Amino acid sequence: MAADQPAWWTRAVVYQVYPRSFMDSDGDGIGDLGGVLLHLDHLSDLGVDVLWLSPVYPSPQADNGYDISDYQDIDPLFGSLQQLDELITALHARGMKLVMDLVVNHTSDQHPWFLESRSSTDSPKRDWYWWRPPREGMAPGDPGAEPTNWQSFFSGPTWELDEASGEYYLHLFDRRQPDLNWENPEVRQAVHEMMRWWLDRGVDGFRMDVINMISKDVGPDGHLHDGPPLPGAALGDGSASYLCGPRIHEFLQEMHREVFAGRSDALLTVGEMPGVTVEQARLFTDPSRGEVDMVFQFEHVGLDHGTSKWDIHPLRLRDLKASFGRWQAGLADVGWNSLYWDNHDQPRAVSRFGDDSPGFRRDSATCLATLLHLHRGTPYVYQGEELGMANYPFRGLEEFADVESLNHHVHAVSAGHDPAEVLDALRYMSRDNARTPVQWDASPHAGFTTGTPWLAVNPDHVEWNAAAQRDDENSVFAHHRRLIALRHTDDVVALGDFTMLLPDHDEVYAFTRSLGGVELLVVCNLSRTPYRLAELLPEAPAAELVLGNLPDDDPAELRPWEARVLRLP
Ligand code: NOJ
Repeated sequence: MAADQPAWWTRAVVYQVYPRSFMDSDGDGIGDLGGVLLHLDHLSDLGVDVLWLSPVYPSPQADNGYDISDYQDIDPLFGSLQQLDELITALHARGMKLVMDLVVNHTSDQHPWFLESRSSTDSPKRDWYWWRPPREGMAPGDPGAEPTNWQSFFSGPTWELDEASGEYYLHLFDRRQPDLNWENPEVRQAVHEMMRWWLDRGVDGFRMDVINMISKDVGPDGHLHDGPPLPGAALGDGSASYLCGPRIHEFLQEMHREVFAGRSDALLTVGEMPGVTVEQARLFTDPSRGEVDMVFQFEHVGLDHGTSKWDIHPLRLRDLKASFGRWQAGLADVGWNSLYWDNHDQPRAVSRFGDDSPGFRRDSATCLATLLHLHRGTPYVYQGEELGMANYPFRGLEEFADVESLNHHVHAVSAGHDPAEVLDALRYMSRDNARTPVQWDASPHAGFTTGTPWLAVNPDHVEWNAAAQRDDENSVFAHHRRLIALRHTDDVVALGDFTMLLPDHDEVYAFTRSLGGVELLVVCNLSRTPYRLAELLPEAPAAELVLGNLPDDDPAELRPWEARVLRLP
């Protein structure tokens, strides 16, 4: 590829498979690689370019595979290395690529590296993880003796006491996910070697889990700093010590040199980066710096959070515009955006940002998709999003499985919060909403398994399923197919400049994309209120319809949840 040619992924759309919930081929109730292989037609019919596979490595499954105990094998729960090879071959034969999940901020506490590290303070791998004595003047296990006051992402302190040595180890996530010490060059080399092994096997890149957390702000004497106290909590916010830490660019540049340099341009790297700012993202994705191709930023999925994700506030559309607009502008000349509503960590977008009541579900799902796919950046479709899958109607706590949700419930209730309110927040925001099995058809368990699904299937699958949508031109699936095709065929969609319109409008989201004399006007009504199009955007009525999400029968009115892509004369 010539240096002045836009990278291939500027025109690409990625589809995320969360294998546990995608398709079960062996009747154990848990999705697997055999299941992914069975449904590749679904992906090629949709037209996506890349499959990002959430972790399938051996794992005790404390965090559904984001706790890896062997980086170079496949968990028998999901299949075998041979099936992974088959998947690579099958995807490549269809012109698609495979991106693996790379979870190297932490391992499982069952990874041989950690078992060795934990075995003795003299272990040669002791320094592969973050071991620290109790706070000065305190004994191991004393309340508040943890080396720092940081609160874990999954509730409680980020430190777990190892009784045998009297030292604590760091875990930013669950206690079964100890953080690797990237300060140690042996750790970095081991990770690079493992990554090269996967690329040599034929995988086409990595989605890098919380990769902006690998560099911690550690003093020359090994000291880690307390963070400011969190409102209403005994613990503090340590994020300044581990989000985009002092050596993060150095580590990513080294990884790029050691793993990717000299390989094909056809690879893809995307760094998941909670808390990343536009300015930082510009550095991470500036191709001349050799770090990553794009990042997942979290600003837009935090707009409905208060003091935490469980403190839910309705989204204000003008905040979303300000945020997306800033990202579009900030990465316009240098760097690249990735675009997403949904993934395995977010509740379903149609229930969160759309309107999943029966009369508006299809229209709001297609409206949200249009809005997202017409931005500049690489869109990511999360399994089931292309079908308009919605949040699950959880009855009680016993229906949740996610470690983050369950830990939060324990901590919040023991801190005195009303259990009914805690449960309500889980119903709306829990990651389990995204993790219910994909709805393939109207049969029992939605065609996902012949056994008992590990997480309940949404009862709405009798109506909302792939079989019902595949041949229906009016379906959410068909609309996604058209959006994906548009990015492939229209340069302006892939590469055009972005200009936000109507920044203060509370219900209508509008923008233009322009490239080489071609100008698209995109207008999306994110409400049940009908609008006269000419009053909103006088130039709109004269424009030609490129793609819309509702039947094309009243050009003058922008109906509830209607989205139109128009070509300006
Ligand atoms: C981000 C992943 O997307 C999430 O599912 C996981 O729990 C954490 N990182 C920890 O690996």
